[in-house]
Amino acid sequence: MVEDGTMRCEDALGAIGNTPIVRLKGLEPEGGGEIWVKLEGGNPTGSYKDRMAASVLRRAMDRGALRRGDRVVEYTGGSTGTALAFVSAVLGLRFTAVFSDAFSDSKRQAMEAFGAEVLIEPSGDGTITPGLIARMKARAHALAAEPGSFYADQFGSPDVRAGYDPMGREIAADLDGHVDVLVAAVGTGAALMGAADGLAAAGVRPRIVALEPLQSPLLTTGTGGAHRVEGIGVGFAPPFLDRDRLDDIRAIDQDRAFAMCRQLARQTGLFCGGSTGLNVVAAIDLARGLEPGQRVVTLGCDTGAKYLGGHIFG
Ligand SMILES: Cc1ncc(COP(=O)(O)O)c(C=O)c1O
Repeated sequence: MVEDGTMRCEDALGAIGNTPIVRLKGLEPEGGGEIWVKLEGGNPTGSYKDRMAASVLRRAMDRGALRRGDRVVEYTGGSTGTALAFVSAVLGLRFTAVFSDAFSDSKRQAMEAFGAEVLIEPSGDGTITPGLIARMKARAHALAAEPGSFYADQFGSPDVRAGYDPMGREIAADLDGHVDVLVAAVGTGAALMGAADGLAAAGVRPRIVALEPLQSPLLTTGTGGAHRVEGIGVGFAPPFLDRDRLDDIRAIDQDRAFAMCRQLARQTGLFCGGSTGLNVVAAIDLARGLEPGQRVVTLGCDTGAKYLGGHIFG
């Protein structure tokens, strides 16, 4: 985050956060509420994951649990990995990612551009399944047990959720505290819950709605499945999702999400990935139930540039 009110940063980590929030006026339902998207694609690696990577690695270094030259290990669908690779480069750390061919190849390339070592776990048929995630996790755990290694622990470290607290505070400031619903798809659940924490810290308590792909309705039906929305629907209970804080959980068809990505780019100029498309589909549904002047806020998780050459934009 830019600390002194100017755009001057001491290093590239200072360029994280303070992202714009954009109203989707053209997609608002007649007689319904306003739709706002916190556009996180403007972070240095094009994703809100930069917030959590900086939080996890900086706090670990501050505690003395991680030192310059150490190796950071994580299993990742690529956005977290790219963010960890970026922050590791800035902080003088090495980074090894356990990745898979089920995720965008451009994400592998981005991690490697930041100097990361990327190990590929084969998916078989290109889909994200609970079995694939379990194999990636086991491989990362084994590597992290080696000397001089630090497990970033995107599914367990309390520093992950804390990294998104500023995003919630920014939303509160951007919209003068007027937020009626906060809705977002969940992988770990950290972005949604961290944003809710930041909003609450600013005295703002909207309804909180979590989303998952209809093709992997683990939270809504108890059974996961194969789907193609990168970053969400991880096949097990999202560790940071605080069910007591949720007002609703909805399953959204991934094909509506991908169509929304294409519509967003052409109709509004927002260039986003599949999870953002899913978020906007749900935000429009929720806006139908709001009064004019009420606001639903969702997250623009990352930039569509990460998905060029994949199945979303063809
Ligand atoms: C593109 C994308 N969208 C959404 C998410 C979900 O975020 P969270 O894990 O904080 O719930 C992720 C997480 O990996 C992601 O990479």
